[in-house]
Amino acid sequence: MQWGDEGKGKVTDYFGEKSDYVVRYQGGNNAGHTVAVGEKVFKFHLLPSGVVQGKRCCIGAGVIIDPRVLAKEIDDFGTKLDLVIDPRAHIIMPYHVALDLLGEGKKGEVKIGTTGRGIGPCYADRAARIGVRFEELIDKQKLSEKLDKVFPLKLAIIEKVYEAQAPFTKESILEEYGALGEKLKPYFGDVSLEICKALDSNKKVLFEGAQGMFLDNDFGTYPFVTSSHPIAGGAFVGVGMGIKNINKIIGVSKAYTTRVGDGPFPTELFGKESDDLRAKGNEFGTTTGRPRRVGWLDLNVLRTAVRINGASEIALTKLDVLNGLLKIKLGVAYNANGKRTEEFPISTADAAKATVEYKEFPGFNFDPAKIKSKNDFPKEVKDYLAFIERSLGTKIIMISIGPERTQTILM
Ligand code: IMP
Ligand code: MG
Repeated sequence: MQWGDEGKGKVTDYFGEKSDYVVRYQGGNNAGHTVAVGEKVFKFHLLPSGVVQGKRCCIGAGVIIDPRVLAKEIDDFGTKLDLVIDPRAHIIMPYHVALDLLGEGKKGEVKIGTTGRGIGPCYADRAARIGVRFEELIDKQKLSEKLDKVFPLKLAIIEKVYEAQAPFTKESILEEYGALGEKLKPYFGDVSLEICKALDSNKKVLFEGAQGMFLDNDFGTYPFVTSSHPIAGGAFVGVGMGIKNINKIIGVSKAYTTRVGDGPFPTELFGKESDDLRAKGNEFGTTTGRPRRVGWLDLNVLRTAVRINGASEIALTKLDVLNGLLKIKLGVAYNANGKRTEEFPISTADAAKATVEYKEFPGFNFDPAKIKSKNDFPKEVKDYLAFIERSLGTKIIMISIGPERTQTILM
């Protein structure tokens, strides 16, 4: 519902237990999901979080795959995986990573603060019709033919435009990626076909988004966005299925807001206030380790996110992090471009200059160990949550008050 890192991993793990399938539909290893089970903490970038529950997990056509990262994640996980990869999914090549980093450097046009994983250049090649698909990765002949066409151009851009040196050759890529293709070949399968059939036979399928609403390539704070469609609608295109049979869209939101990378963030906090919240919430990127920017919860953000995602309910995470604050602020409206608004501005320049109208709530301090049901929350928490629900016209169905599976309260 915000800029990602809202605790989707934990929420997916929870609902994954009751699902037959867990499916990823967009993004790549720019994502980082953390799932804690007892002593064990799993951190995934590409594998759907449902692997922890032993579910059949799918990587849909809309996902882009760095095969080095996926192969390592599969090895590190250890146990046998029930995994299917759609042959249409695109592959992040070494030159995509190089071009992402070079584009973020001095010679690039706009600095986005990307994760440096090659995401933008890979999706750009997909749109430009010069990408490498999973079906080509697993066939050395096809991979070689594709590289013959594409590699000279990529090398020329690296060497001539950026005046950099490439740490790879066509031959080194063919050898390494050919081997990775062989390793990943057993997971080849038509995810679109399988999921359409599963939905038609009333199987339970959980679609796990990555990144966040305001990083969506069209509906986020462009150009400070990612290159895919994290919004719920992205699932239809990213899996290859019709717009039917979806009965629930759960919007995951943190009880405050964070953002990594550049771009507008109207309720951002600075100085000591931000340092304290960042430390309490351990707000450092799972993928890059960067300190996250932190700020208050923002109803303009959530209202727009509920509408565009069609969220039927909300899971609110990390509420315990707000414990002990004297006052809690909630953004209720903006003044943007000379007007009061309750929507997130379309123009990124307007959003960057927006001033926020806040409502203040008294702080609270509950002991997570003593909260077993929603009735156990102090009155201040109940009032705060009720105000959010009323403002959004959407029910909060789950609250997370700690990283553990058990620290999850159904409302
Ligand atoms: P890219 O996706 O690496 O191209 O990065 C584009 C923007 O999206 C940057 O601001 C990143 O920090 C941000 N971003 C990408 N993936 C995630 C994520 O999983 N969580 C939070 N921010 C992300
Ligand atoms: Mg994350």
